[in-house]
Amino acid sequence: MSAPRGVNQGVAPVTYGTGDRPPRGDYGRARSDYSCDQDWARYTAADHETYRRLYARQLQQLPGLACDEFIAAVAQLGAPERIPRFDAISERLLPATGWQIVGVPGLIPEEAFFALLAQRRFPVTDWIRRPEEFDYVVEPDIFHDLFGHVPLLFDPMFADYMQAYGAGGMKASRLDACELLARLYWYTVEFGLIATPAGLRAYGAGILSSAGELRHSIRSPAPRRVGFDLQRLMRSRYRIDSFQATYFVIDSFRQLFEATAPDFTPVYRQVREVIAAEGEVEAGAVLPGERQFSAAAG
Ligand code: PHE
Ligand code: FE
Repeated sequence: MSAPRGVNQGVAPVTYGTGDRPPRGDYGRARSDYSCDQDWARYTAADHETYRRLYARQLQQLPGLACDEFIAAVAQLGAPERIPRFDAISERLLPATGWQIVGVPGLIPEEAFFALLAQRRFPVTDWIRRPEEFDYVVEPDIFHDLFGHVPLLFDPMFADYMQAYGAGGMKASRLDACELLARLYWYTVEFGLIATPAGLRAYGAGILSSAGELRHSIRSPAPRRVGFDLQRLMRSRYRIDSFQATYFVIDSFRQLFEATAPDFTPVYRQVREVIAAEGEVEAGAVLPGERQFSAAAG
């Protein structure tokens, strides 16, 4: 972005994905790259209490459902009884993997999002849901962004994947392939599962920050769980308003990184050809001969 930065310059709010509701955040505080300062003093006692309760509810569910890397890093968020300061987390994250977190007013445009990731700066929404939204909030809030996404940024391999995704996004914008690339984000960063020697575990932030989907994704017999396959994944539609009907399962963060490292220019072309010939794959559909992972008992 070439526009000069200015504290009160403001940027246009983002409305995609939110239907006819204007987004909740105050975009007037955002810089031209959409980052904004976290006004920590502005959080009320009720805000901190909402965070404390959300954190406690998720933490006790993690064993046996969340991947080890996530469980090991979640304490890096700091004291669980109040909303953390972004700067304090960045002080730990920067030496670990070179990432920082920056405040944003809410959803931001794709290009701004990709640019931040490519710079190893992860945007975190600075407001928290209202108490009546405890179980479900339509837009990502600080709990989803921080609790769901930030712990895995402490994992070196996953951290590299996230930066590569940002750089890949800037390229996808030029190739008009953002919709295909968004499926990769959805099915890995937001709703990914990983096969471990101890069984399936969740690493996707949308799962890890959800009260109900954490258990559902690992234990429910209802959804399909298929092995990670880039082309298959990019053909697959997804649901934004219910638990996922399909999850993709990786073997390791290294496998994910290596499978996504090649130039996607020919991949997008191939995927478009397959979609033109055979169509997209609906959420919950299984292709002939496709291997599935079964739900873990317990
Ligand atoms: N290899 C991808 C490309 O060329 C970049 C990328 C890496 C995208 C990792 C997503 C995840 O576009
Ligand atoms: Fe998210």
